[in-house]
Amino acid sequence: MSQPIRVCTLADLTPGEGLRVDTVIPPLAVFLTEDGDVHALDDTCTHQEASLADGWLEDCWVECPLHASRFDLRTGEVDEPPAKRPVRVHDASVVDGEVWVTLSTAVPNLPPGALGVS
Ligand code: FES
Repeated sequence: MSQPIRVCTLADLTPGEGLRVDTVIPPLAVFLTEDGDVHALDDTCTHQEASLADGWLEDCWVECPLHASRFDLRTGEVDEPPAKRPVRVHDASVVDGEVWVTLSTAVPNLPPGALGVS
């Protein structure tokens, strides 16, 4: 099991928006929902190379900015094509105003071409 890493502060996050964190590979998208929940996912959409941190957040879903598939922030499941595979989710927690993420050990579902994936 991987160790938690500090990715940002809670103050870095805006409710209803995502923050791309590229200090880890593959990059993460960290979201603060309007309800105050923090979620961390792989940032790259599973369909093509789009940054989910730039997507639109509604409740616990983020809509890909490129082709509008939506991913559940809690499970990574996708609602409808063109994306077909879930995005990998990571455990996120807030301790003393800092956001910590424990990276999943699952294989990421990166799209063809991302980070050299064929
Ligand atoms: S790149 Fe995300 S749905 Fe196509």
